[in-house]
Parts: sequence; C-alpha cells; structure tokens
Amino acid sequence: MCGIVGYVGPEQAAPILLEGLTRLEYRGYDSAGLAVRDGNNRVEVVKAKGRLKALKDKTNDGSALKGNTGIGHTRWATHGEPSENNAHPHISDDLNVVAVHNGIIENFTEIKEKLIKNRYSFYSETDTEAIVKLIDYYYKKYNIGPIDAIAKTMVRVRGSYAIAVMFKDLPGEIWVARKDSPMIIGVSDDATYVASDVPAILNHTRSVYYIGNLEMACLRAGEVHFYNLDGDEIGKELSTIEWDTEAAEKGGFEHFMMKEIHEQPKAVSDTMNAYVKDGSIDFEAAGLSSEKLKKVKRVYIAACGSAYHVGMTAQYIIESLARVPVRVELASEFRYRNPILEEDSLVIAISQSGETADTLAAIREAKENGVPTLGIVNVVGSSIAREADSVINTMAGPEIAVATTKAYSAQLIAMYLFAIKLAFENGKIDKERHDGLLAEMATLPSKISKVLEDKERIQWFTAKFSLAHDVFFIGRGMDYAICLEGSLKMKEISYIHSEAYAAGELKHGTISLVEDGTLVIGVLTQPELYEKTRSNLVEVKSRGAYLMGLTSAGNYGIEDTVDFTIYIPKTDPLFADSLAVVPLQLMGYYMSVGRGLDVDKPRNLAKSVTVE
Ligand code: G6P
Repeated sequence: MCGIVGYVGPEQAAPILLEGLTRLEYRGYDSAGLAVRDGNNRVEVVKAKGRLKALKDKTNDGSALKGNTGIGHTRWATHGEPSENNAHPHISDDLNVVAVHNGIIENFTEIKEKLIKNRYSFYSETDTEAIVKLIDYYYKKYNIGPIDAIAKTMVRVRGSYAIAVMFKDLPGEIWVARKDSPMIIGVSDDATYVASDVPAILNHTRSVYYIGNLEMACLRAGEVHFYNLDGDEIGKELSTIEWDTEAAEKGGFEHFMMKEIHEQPKAVSDTMNAYVKDGSIDFEAAGLSSEKLKKVKRVYIAACGSAYHVGMTAQYIIESLARVPVRVELASEFRYRNPILEEDSLVIAISQSGETADTLAAIREAKENGVPTLGIVNVVGSSIAREADSVINTMAGPEIAVATTKAYSAQLIAMYLFAIKLAFENGKIDKERHDGLLAEMATLPSKISKVLEDKERIQWFTAKFSLAHDVFFIGRGMDYAICLEGSLKMKEISYIHSEAYAAGELKHGTISLVEDGTLVIGVLTQPELYEKTRSNLVEVKSRGAYLMGLTSAGNYGIEDTVDFTIYIPKTDPLFADSLAVVPLQLMGYYMSVGRGLDVDKPRNLAKSVTVE
C-alpha cells in the first residue's frame, strides 16, 4: 500500500526521499511524488505515474529539487485511477498545505461537499485532496495553528490515515498524524525522518519513535514533539531497531524473493531460539504465561493471505496435539460476521507486517469482547504487536519481496511452538513427546537447506511450464494447507491461474477443468493420506493431466504414478509443511522469472494491506 517518507535536516531532502521511497517500493505502488521546500520558502511538487524511475528521471535523481525539508509518497490507487494528477503530494490551492497520505478517508465525499460550499475546488479524484483542504480550511478559518487544525480534521474524518503535512507558514517543520495506518519517526543528531516502515530510514538511523493512534507530531531537524488530540504534548520512549542494514539489501541475489527463500533456515532457527530455552518453550517474554495457556478452551485464528495459510496448517497441529478446537478465519470475514467469542477463547492474529487492516480489526473485535489476544508478528512495534495482549515475534528480519517466504516459515515455527506448549501444559502430550518434537524441529533448518540444494531441478522442470494457463494443486489435510500456499505463490508472482483443492473434492467439479497436458501438482507428505491422494492423482492422469508429485523421501513408489517428483527430507508429518513449502516457493519464483515478470513487485499487489 502507499508509502510515506519525510525528511527535515541539514542535507538536500529530495535524494533522501527518493532513496526512502525506493526502499518502500515493496509495499506496492503505481505512481509517486515529492514535495520539497527550499530556503526561500518555496515548495515544489513533482509527481509521476508508474515506477519510481519516472520520478527520478523527472527530478534528475532529486538534484533538480532544492531544499532541506520534504515529503514523498508512493501511491497504490484506491480512490481514482493511477495517474500523475491523482498521485501525491496533494496541495491546497495556494500551497498553504501540502500533504501525503496513506489510508482511506471514508467520508471524503461529505467533506468535499462541505468544502465546495466554502468555495474550495478539487482537481483530483482522491480522498486525500479532501483531507488537505480540510486542514487548510480549519487552519485559515480559525487561525488556530497546526495542532488544532490537524486535530479538528482528525475528529472530522472517518477512516484510516497516516499523513505528513507541510504548512507554508512553518518552514523547517513537518507535521504528522495517524490513525490505523503505519508510521514511524526516526531521529538522528541533526535530522528527523518519518516513514511508513523501517527499511526507508534504516540507512540513516536506528532510533525511532512509534506514534500512537490519534496522535500528532511536529518534526524539526533533529527533534520531534508529540501531541494528543487535545493538543497536549505527550512523552514518548525512543526505541532501537535491531535489524541490520544488510538485511534490507539483496546481498548478491538477483531478487529479494530468492534471497529471502535462502534466509529461511536462519528465520526458522532464530524464531525457535528466541523461545526455546534449556529444552523448554518459554513464552513469558511474549506475555503468555502457562496459567493463561491452561485457560484456553478454544482458539480462533484470524489472518490474511499466506498468514491465513499458516493458520490452516496450525489448525491441524493444534487440534492434533492439544485437542483444543480451532477455527481459522480470513480476517476480512471474521470482523463482519459477529463471531461468538467467549472468555475462555484465545484469538490469534498472524501477520508479518502487523499492520494488515483486517487482521488488526480482528484483534480489536476480540478485545472489545473481553477475549485474550495473541499476535504472531514479524515487525516489532507494529500496530498488532502493540495492541495484542501477548506477542510472539517471528525472527525473520525485514521481508521486502511482496510475496512472503521467510516470514511464512517463521510463522509456522511460532505456531508449532504454540501448539506443543499448549498440548504440554494441558497434559495432552508427555515430556518424551514434547522433547521429541522439539528435537525434530531443531533439524528443520538443515532440512530446508537440503531442499534448497534441489533448486536447479525445480528450475528445469518449471521452465517447461512457463507458458501454462492453469496449474492445479491437490492434497489432503495439511497437504491441502500447503497446496493453498503453493497456489498463491504461483498466481501472485507468475500471473498463471492456479487453484488449490482438497484432493477429495476434485470429483465434485474441478476435474472437468483437467485437459491434456494440464499441470497438476500433488502434495503427499502425510503418511495416512498418501494412498488416497495418489488415487486422486491417478484419476486426473487418466484424463490427460501432467503430474508432479511432492512427497517425503522414501515414498519412491510415487514415480510409478507421476511424471516428475520432488522429495523432501523425512520429518515428523506435523512439520512437513516447513519443508514442502520451499519447492513450491521456488516454482513460483522460477515461473515468474521465466516469464520475465517483476518477481519482487508483482502488479496490483501490496506487501502490507493497510486498507480494507
Ligand atoms: C499481502 C502480502 C502477503 C501476505 C498478506 C498478509 O497480501 O502480499 O504476502 O501474506 O498481505 O500480510 P501480513 O502482513 O498480515 O502477514
């Protein structure tokens, strides 16, 4: 979704803003813009449709814009088509207010009408222009200064926003405010930064403030002041970002996605090591005591995209090990179906970014109903991390490619640990089983590395299907959950239509889509379901399908049925998804590369979906 950056300090702002926007490219965007104010108090706004390169060309890599204070934006269109006119920054007619915005203003039509009655005119189709002009309106009408003008606007608008604003009268200042959209503020000795996410400022500072919901801040070179909605100044603690800068670079790989696929062994072991101490799982640091866990009689998991698929896998594992009922829901559905939430339940929100609007809303829904919440989050200090009662941090480090890989793998680990701990605390597994499961988990990083060694074969096989129109993934039980993830990876980055089916469901419709040469990928890692899925593969083969089997080492008989096989090392079937996902990620990657697509930034998609 949209990305915001801002800079005020001694350097030229434009190159810093462009660099920050480049690091936010992964969020997804279709146009971009900058506003920079020079020493003579002139503000210049430059915008361009398309990739950042267009904006860089227009501004000669920023050198054409002079000034030490500025704001920048990458826009992912919601209101109004992607165009230069709709791109941010947006301005009031006399350039009194210039602003960038991430989020959605739900009542912008109403605000627009009010402003039109007050002789404002509008040049774009965006909701942002309404917010800019409303700030201008209050600022001038009441002559009340920035704090009250912004606060009045915040009270008047409905929806979500992170905004960065420059006022004509206030050189050397950037004003920001937020509600439900991400924003961090970084400070160094002589400069201050604002951004939608950490990678944008990591090259400049690691000292950040997290601005809370319905709060404002004034940024000056090297200093920042925070205010609540009443205009009272509030104190904030400075936090340090632990991620190293290299983590946000490609490190010799052609794409972030491939680099992140290779970082999975580390993401898995770092996440395990953070919570396994002396052979036991310790969630005290996560705020999840044994007493709390013992009270849990029902689990709800709410998540979106790949995180939802982690929830699907976790459902099988929690129910199998801990015998506690689990319901997994798409967060976007959960929030609108008036779920029956009881106090002995636990609502788990899984989210890489910790900012996905629907997942955050699920946490809030649970809290309103007095139900304890647990966030499984990769970004420290994100909204879900701050609002959930307990938080397990996945240790994947910054993930840049839009299609998640290492964060997904780290989320699986967090959920395995949760399931084992819950089962052990409830007496559903004994110490021997507990220790055995942890010992097997400790082997996963090296087994993932082993799967990565097979990547050339996967590349070779994938190349044969780069012109495919449809790909089907079939599996049962946890294999079905991994099929969902494999299919999502395939479609999101290669734009090939793909679907995942519970293998037993094929005969209820989908089999009619199978034609001569259709690629069907069967996942068979669960021993008790192996024969069943194999029979389903035979059924599609006899209708002309070309078959790939993904199964565990030892199941060599599969080669009698399928045309191409990928083996993963043997592991406890409960953990097979951690290994099976890797070849499927690689297939999506190679398919995308083979088709000449933008692997890291697929069209129309955003890394962090901060609007509904
Ligand atoms: C987007 C990303 C997916 C991700 C999903 C949920 O669609 O492209 O990779 O799984 O959002 O994001 P979250 O940050 O909540 O895990």
